[in-house]
Amino acid sequence: MVLFKRPWILALLVSTSWAAKIYLCGDSTMASNGKNGMDGWGNYLTPFVDLSVVNRARGGRSARSYTREGLFNEVAKLVTAGDWVVIEFGHNDGGSVSPSNDNGRTDCPVKPGAGGEKSTCAVNFEGEKVAKTFPAYLQDAGKMFVAKGAKVIMSSQTPNNVYETKKYVYSPSRFGEFAKDAAKAVGPQAFFVDHGLYTAEAYKQINNASIVTNNLFMKGDHTHTTVEGAKLVAKAFAKAVVCAKIPFAEHVKKVSC
Ligand SMILES: *[C@@H]1O[C@H](CO)[C@@H](O)[C@H](O)[C@H]1NC(C)=O
Repeated sequence: MVLFKRPWILALLVSTSWAAKIYLCGDSTMASNGKNGMDGWGNYLTPFVDLSVVNRARGGRSARSYTREGLFNEVAKLVTAGDWVVIEFGHNDGGSVSPSNDNGRTDCPVKPGAGGEKSTCAVNFEGEKVAKTFPAYLQDAGKMFVAKGAKVIMSSQTPNNVYETKKYVYSPSRFGEFAKDAAKAVGPQAFFVDHGLYTAEAYKQINNASIVTNNLFMKGDHTHTTVEGAKLVAKAFAKAVVCAKIPFAEHVKKVSC
């Protein structure tokens, strides 16, 4: 066929499929921050994976604002078959929302029952009049990536400092459960990874509140990590993938469950 008369086309196809990438969609805990020693974990995943990492996380974003600003769409334009996409939100998704009180980030409340995760609500932010629930944003983004031939990892959000009160406490966020359900709803090309749990476990293993608080989190900040903290959070993601035994585990290096 025409294809085989032009071997360079085959070579191009092969090299394209070899150059699979992993795209990261998230908030400041994942994003490049690079100010005063603060950084997100997305910048430190490279040593643990055998494909190239494209960190598209953006500080301050929720599933809703990442969607409204077209940031999922931008990633969808870049994604090709064989790529992976991580979706990890939650830190900026909470709160209650109404047209008179809308920060542009809070998602609609999830109403339990049939279809509740797909419900919408009235909002009022820079021309946006209708918003969706967190699960709906994740499902829509996930299906868009899968339609492009990518596989999707729905990931639970990173924990805040588990030693904030000196004694270790980890309370998983409801957005982790939503992420798990969203992976199921998207179908067999989507997977859930409990990044929050494995990060909390990594902090626990350090077993020293002052080291975690002073070295791994920014001063007076229970959410944002230092570079050292970001490295721990990235490694915890790799471990969560291997322990979840999802197909992406074949791309993970240096970490076992
Ligand atoms: C925790 O780490 C700090 C800083 O390295 C150290 O001074 C302290 O003794 C450690 N605490 C415990 C209980 O090991």
